[in-house]
This record gives sequence, structure tokens and C-alpha cells, in this order.
Amino acid sequence: MTLHPHRPVLGMALAALLLVPWPLAAASQEPKPEQVLKHDKLEVVLPDFPSDGLILDIGGGGEGVIEQLKGRRVVAVDLSKRELEDAPGEPLLKIVMDARDLKFLDGTFATTSVFFTFMYIDPADHAKVFQEIHRVLKPGGRLLIWDVVFPLRTDPRQIYVLYPLHVKLPAADINTGYGVKIVEKQGPEHFVSLAKASGFEVVSRKDEQGWFFLEMKKTA
Ligand SMILES: C[S@@+](CC[C@H](N)C(=O)[O-])C[C@H]1O[C@@H](n2cnc3c(N)ncnc32)[C@H](O)[C@@H]1O
Repeated sequence: MTLHPHRPVLGMALAALLLVPWPLAAASQEPKPEQVLKHDKLEVVLPDFPSDGLILDIGGGGEGVIEQLKGRRVVAVDLSKRELEDAPGEPLLKIVMDARDLKFLDGTFATTSVFFTFMYIDPADHAKVFQEIHRVLKPGGRLLIWDVVFPLRTDPRQIYVLYPLHVKLPAADINTGYGVKIVEKQGPEHFVSLAKASGFEVVSRKDEQGWFFLEMKKTA
């Protein structure tokens, strides 16, 4: 796997916190320890949430957390076939698809979830992804986002941030890790602005240690 700023630079092995090699093509590309900011573990409690109709889960590869929670109510899309194949959980469908160019008709879904996926998408593409999600949601449909609050560098040499993560589902505990390039000053406010600019109203917000949750409703 080549190192890309907004793709997973470490897989699930991240949980081992650099005890395993970075899955990069050449050793010369491996991040040096001083280039990696090791974040405190994110503790994410994910209760079941009500949903009428289908849920579109963007970036549903990896641990497939939303698929593990909501099963066959979910249509999971991801850029990476391998990430979808590896994801546990049994959604209705797994489809290789780019969130910047969704292939669904307008107004198809009641809910869209984006669980720790925006952190892997280039910020320059976020507005396009919001536009696409807005288009495929039904009127009044909901957009649910869980994502990180990027930290300030503690050392100027740091390029990447490594997040160990514990997700508590009603019937399971998932321990994993996500590693990406640091994006300066990206947190909930960035997404609140995008929401307002794309025809969403923020319905609820939860600010936690190192991560946040936003629930939005399609208004326009
Ligand atoms: C680490 S996973 C996020 C966590 C995942 N939702 C879970 O439950 O574990 C991020 C996923 O986003 C996917 N991704 C990145 N850019 C994407 C895009 N433009 N469209 C769809 N998926 C994308 C990546 O392939 C990766 O599988």
C-alpha cells in the first residue's frame, strides 16, 4: 500500500501501536517514530439508533462498525474492495463506490452514516461528499457523523496521528486503530459549516475527548 495522506496509512494493526510494520511499499517510506503523534485512546460508546428505511454507510470497510450495529438495514460503500471484503458484519450490500460520486438516485436513503471516514478523505473533497450525501437522502433524511478532532502537533516533525480506538456497541466491544496524516484545525466546526452550506440543519452534537458526533437533518 502506498502512503497517501487521506487513506489509511495503517490498518487494524494500528492497535499494536507501531509494534508492527507500517504496510508501506518500501521501508524508506515508513514513517519515523518522531513523525507520528500517538493520541490517547478514543473511547466511543455507540448505542443503537432509530432508523426507518435504509442506511447508507460511507467508508463502511475497516471494522464495518455501523454494519455490525445495524446489519441488513445497511448499504455499505467504500473506495476499497479489500476493506469491504475484510469488514465483519452483514450489511444488505457492500459496494465499491466513491463517496464523491455516489451512483444512487436522488432521495434513496433515510439515513447516511459516516463513521470515522471523513478523516480519510481529503478536506478539499468534503464539500463534494456533503453535496452527494444531501442528494441521495430523502427529504428530512439524517446524516450522522462520527469523526476525530485533529490534535495540535506536540513536535514540529509530526506528520501523522495514530488513534487507538475502543468502540462499545450494545453487544460487542471493538478495539482498533486509525492512522492518518494530521489535518490542522479540523474538528466539529468544520463539519457544522459544511452542513449549513449544503442544506443541512444540525440537530444534535456531542463533543468528546478527541472525537465528536454530529446529527444533521436535510432541510433544503
Ligand atoms: C478506516 S475506515 C473508517 C472506519 C470504518 N467506518 C469502520 O467502521 O471501521 C475509512 C474508510 O474510508 C474509505 N474511504 C476513503 N475515501 C473514500 C471515498 N472517497 N469514498 C468511499 N470510501 C472512502 C477507506 O477506503 C476506508 O476503508
